This record gives sequence, C-alpha cells and structure tokens, in this order.
Amino acid sequence: MEQITDCLCRYKNYNFGIGLTTPEHIDSLQSFEIRDSDVLLVTYPKSGTIWTQQIIISICESAGGLHEYPNNLEQMPWLEYTEGRGDYALRPSPRLFSSHLTPALLPPGLKAKKAKIIYVTRNPKDNIVSYFHFSGNSGDLETPKSFEDFFEQYVTGNVGASSWFDHIRDWHSKRDQYNILFLSYEDMILDLKEAVTKICHFLGKNLSDAAVEQVVEKSTFKTMKKDVKANYEFLPEEKVKKDFMRKGKIGDWKNTLTEAQSQRVDQLLHETLGEMSLKFIWE
Ligand code: PPS
Repeated sequence: MEQITDCLCRYKNYNFGIGLTTPEHIDSLQSFEIRDSDVLLVTYPKSGTIWTQQIIISICESAGGLHEYPNNLEQMPWLEYTEGRGDYALRPSPRLFSSHLTPALLPPGLKAKKAKIIYVTRNPKDNIVSYFHFSGNSGDLETPKSFEDFFEQYVTGNVGASSWFDHIRDWHSKRDQYNILFLSYEDMILDLKEAVTKICHFLGKNLSDAAVEQVVEKSTFKTMKKDVKANYEFLPEEKVKKDFMRKGKIGDWKNTLTEAQSQRVDQLLHETLGEMSLKFIWE
C-alpha cells in the first residue's frame, strides 16, 4: 500500500483509511466465498449507508430467521475492514454485509447473480458536504483545513474511497453483471415507505403492510438517532467525535457550496456521467 497522505493509503487504485485494512485482506476478498443468500449493501461513503443498513436489518428481522448481533455494525459489517472482523465464513445465513468498494475489489462470486446487492447513491453536492463534516469528526480521516480544501480533494478523488464520479460510473456501467437494486438517498427521503417496499420485493420478503410501516418507523431519522444499535454512537469517541447522524436532509449543499463550486460539480457530472442519463435530485 502506498501512503498518500497522513490518513490515506492507496491500493489497487482505491484510497483506504490507514490502519483500516491490509493488502492481504483486500486480496483475500477475491477468494471469499459468496453464498446465494448473501445481501451486500454498497455505497460511496456518506450516501445513506447506515440508514439503508437499518432498513435491510429491520426487514430481515421482521421476516424472521436473522441471527442477532449487538448492533448494526456487527450485523452488517464492511467486507473491506479488518478491525473487529470475525470469520465471516462461519456466520449463519442469511449474511448481511456492507461495502464502499468498487466492483473489481469485491468477491467475483457476486457475479453469479444470485447474491443480492443494493447500491445507494446520493447527489454529489450533499455528499461532499456530509463527507466534509464527517472528515472533521472522524479519527480515521484528516480534518480538512477548510471546505474549499476538502472540495478540491473530493473532486480530484483524493479522499477515502477515491472519486465519487468513478464509483458511480463503475457500478452503473457494470450493473448487468450483478443482481443489483439501485436506490437513491433522495428517493428514500421523499418516500421512505416506497423505498422500504422496493427493498422488500428485491429481497423476496413478503411483509404485511403493518410490518412495512414498522420498518419505516424504525428507519426515520428521528427514531434512528435514538436507536443505540443503529446510530453508531457505540463507536469509541476517538473513532467518531460527533454523531454519524448529522442533518439527514436534501439540499444542505446550498448552505455551503459557492456558485462556482456547484457549477464545477455540474461540469464534472456532465463530463464523467453525461452519457449515462442519471438524474439527481438536488432539493
Ligand atoms: S458512512 O460513514 O459512509 O457509513 O455514512 P453514511 O451512513 O453513508 O451517510 C451518513 C449520512 O446519512 C444520513 N442519515 C440519514 N438521513 C436520513 N434519514 C436517516 N434515517 C438517516 N440515517 C443517516 C446522515 O445524517 C448523514 O448525512 P448528513 O447530510 O451528514 O446528515
């Protein structure tokens, strides 16, 4: 791994937080055995990962047969991190995993198209702002000198998980190789019940309307913020100084990005994803 900043190192074209994983572990994912019943949530950081974890876990709990773990991190761990990692081959099915990785770094067994992948995107302007605040509060990331500074690092892909633009392009262009459901953070905000229903269908879980309503209630920002299994306040303070659940809104970027920065993102979107006809909700 090549160290690129005080907190980041690069391996196989992807930026990892220093100390969060090893090259051996990332290589080992190439032979990690995927089960047909596995569910993997994939996101670029700060796109609604812990929110979607809560939805998936609540659906699977409600459907029954899910092994219990102390919190959502242990129930749905990130495949790429080594810290606190158990032997996932010994886990009972169904296994739930999370990841911020790109397709090439994940187990090739996912291409058998049986295991399910849920990919959640968020509009890049809100994503930048959320990532900026998180970087200032995370013990694993460099505290940005200023928003301007962070913005430059983000648009040039010099942050953890590398470029947002590459991540989205990579996953969308390879979608046919996987059994994948694409969702957006904004759609989840605008109609949470609809998003929960879509996830239920994709996972093949037939919940009653009352059970769907219960999942929705457990996954609202307000409920999750108080849910000690879901709000990530169980992490030690040296990992995250303030809460993971900051605002949970669409359009917060308007309070932070300058007009020039906003236009630069629009330009980059046009250049990198223009031909993919992806639509983003900005407010
Ligand atoms: S991480 O570190 O990559 O796992 O972060 P991630 O969970 O992907 O993203 C964190 C942002 O998601 C918001 N969040 C929610 N929004 C709406 N409703 C619910 N229930 C919810 N839970 C988490 C969280 O507040 C972060 O966004 P910002 O804009 O910073 O508030």
